[in-house]
Amino acid sequence: MRLSGHQWQKLRELRQFFLSAQPNRASYWDSEQTVELYDQTLAVRIGWRWDAVISQLRSLHWQPREKLFLDWGCGSGVASRKILEAFPNFECAYLADLSSHAEHYAAKAIRTKFPSVSVRNGTPEGEPFCLVLSHVLGELDERSEELLATIVGRASSLIWVEGGSATLSKKLVLWRERLDWPVIAPCTHRRHCGMLAPENHLHWCHFLTRPPGETFMSAEWAEFAKELEIDHRTIAFSYLVLDRAATNQSAGLARSIGSTRVYKALAKLQLCDDDGLHDVELMKRDFPELWKALKKGWSPDLLQVEINGNRISKLLETGKPE
Ligand SMILES: C[S@@+](CC[C@H](N)C(=O)[O-])C[C@H]1O[C@@H](n2cnc3c(N)ncnc32)[C@H](O)[C@@H]1O
Repeated sequence: MRLSGHQWQKLRELRQFFLSAQPNRASYWDSEQTVELYDQTLAVRIGWRWDAVISQLRSLHWQPREKLFLDWGCGSGVASRKILEAFPNFECAYLADLSSHAEHYAAKAIRTKFPSVSVRNGTPEGEPFCLVLSHVLGELDERSEELLATIVGRASSLIWVEGGSATLSKKLVLWRERLDWPVIAPCTHRRHCGMLAPENHLHWCHFLTRPPGETFMSAEWAEFAKELEIDHRTIAFSYLVLDRAATNQSAGLARSIGSTRVYKALAKLQLCDDDGLHDVELMKRDFPELWKALKKGWSPDLLQVEINGNRISKLLETGKPE
């Protein structure tokens, strides 16, 4: 990642635009080189979010069953490549973006890495497809959201990953409410989202992941973090995975939201289940091993707990590797 001053400046501008969550009227992809620059830097971080979501889906033993997917707003195609790596059942990738620079770059990158996959532009007609959405929500005006709604309406499953800001997460929750399909993740139920209760207006459904270990050590990523003023130790994201054909829901489980705060004698978690959102405490003296794991940085995903007041009284399932 040896970048010139001009390239750093370009990246700063792109990031600024992404953070502003403005509808995208004129494409910022002024050349395929800009798409490539993004692919080697900002998109890598997006890839880590996809890794975290895919790992969740694996632990739920869920995978899309379709032979084709559509990556709408594909950009450099990082989401497509993560999906193809994780789910080899896909034979065909459809790519759609406002920008032909993005479509060309994404198609080239997929063909190089997955030569047996057929790559097409546009949207699939007539065959069931999985819709892949990645970091587009912030850029859509009302008209584009309606266009997206017609595409979502034709998809048979949906894997949607966004950044972890409150604004994006809240928008994603509204989509979740609008689409009354079986939810694979993050929700463990199909009831109304607990985040929408007025008393939870300060909370948002988000999760945290970390870059792979080697990037902490790398001088290149340290420079990236410094130039773009990004704290790259943790990466927040929100996501939504739906499958019209799904029948089984992870019954009785609660999803841990956001970060766990660990104190001397207890840890504080926020859990979400079919009963809503719960701020709970896990006492060190009740669950010393788990408290220790939390202290060392382990983050729970799905838990099965009994709660007494606001205190976890029984842990039936933690999902923690031995
Ligand atoms: C932040 S980039 C994300 C790219 C890629 N999905 C990723 O995760 O790296 C958003 C992409 O959405 C595209 N986009 C924005 N509005 C769109 C629309 N109305 N229709 C199709 N693509 C759109 C942009 O051109 C851009 O490539």
